Amino acid sequence: MKRILVAGELNVDLVFRDCQSFPTPGHEVLAEDALVVPGSSSMICAMGLARLGNPVSFAGKAGADGWGDFCVSALQGAGIDVGAVRRDAALRTGITASFSTRSDRALVTFAGAIGALRADDIGDELLGAADHLHVSSYYLQTALRPQLKSLFARARAQGLSTSLDPGFDPERRWGDEWRELLAEVDLFLPNDVELAGISGCESAVDGLRALDNGHTRIVVKRGRDGCAALDRDGKLFESPAFALDAVDSTGAGDSFDAGFLHAWLRDLPLTEAMRWGNACGALSTRGVGGTARQADLGEAKALVESAP
Ligand SMILES: Nc1ncnc2c1ncn2[C@@H]1O[C@H](COP(=O)(O)OP(=O)(O)OP(=O)(O)O)[C@@H](O)[C@H]1O
Ligand SMILES: [Mg+2]
Repeated sequence: MKRILVAGELNVDLVFRDCQSFPTPGHEVLAEDALVVPGSSSMICAMGLARLGNPVSFAGKAGADGWGDFCVSALQGAGIDVGAVRRDAALRTGITASFSTRSDRALVTFAGAIGALRADDIGDELLGAADHLHVSSYYLQTALRPQLKSLFARARAQGLSTSLDPGFDPERRWGDEWRELLAEVDLFLPNDVELAGISGCESAVDGLRALDNGHTRIVVKRGRDGCAALDRDGKLFESPAFALDAVDSTGAGDSFDAGFLHAWLRDLPLTEAMRWGNACGALSTRGVGGTARQADLGEAKALVESAP
């Protein structure tokens, strides 16, 4: 089994569910339920991979505070090696408060330690103990971002494969470094909004073609429409989502990444890896937050095999 290193951000989600209405200045509203759950993209993907039975280690930084303890014990509880998670008393662990009503959601984030991980926190020894390196939240990992190309190059020189989920750019600048960066990326997993921003193309097929470098496998996630990639002839191949009664789609993209990677690292064909991604994305929507109902191996396999 391939050993996976996830290098990324740690963050807690504080979820207020079914609020009577959105809070307005000077007023208080009641929520039906409140939960504290593991929140960041990297954590959700790492926990999804572990739940499918993969050996996972995590490199990251958290504050020496209660939220940091919460993140580390969630990772440990999932069986993830946290030897490379540094606790730093000068940092405070990030947190997102999510307020949901029946119709919409509002989020407030304190980024805290999210942007603190640096490429030189990830030594060659750590890379040497892994077969694959996955990174998410490119735009939020501000210290890692300018060094990511060289980190990926170092990983590939040591024989690791690499994957990247860019996540959303809160500043919507998207950047022009993608041609160079993707040269060191084996698998790229944006959603449709991110692909459009990064490629500058409106349609998924144009975006996939614009970023195609003949090396990087690019799969675009499209929520309830499943996912898509270019086939060998450069035509769009679409893999439909699994229909499920979704409770909460937070983190579905990160659980998709876990499912796709699980299959891709076992050399399954692209069409099957896309189904694994769709299955794990869909199954994760059964519960509130990103990790409560992530698929185990049996559940994912059963759903993948149910596809025509
Ligand atoms: N309501 C849903 N029903 C079924 N499958 C879903 C649903 N929402 C998401 N998925 C599955 O999860 C995958 C990833 O979801 P999505 O496209 O929303 O990713 P994302 O935008 O990166 O999400 P995230 O908010 O986690 O970053 C989709 O490609 C699809 O297979
Ligand atoms: Mg995403």
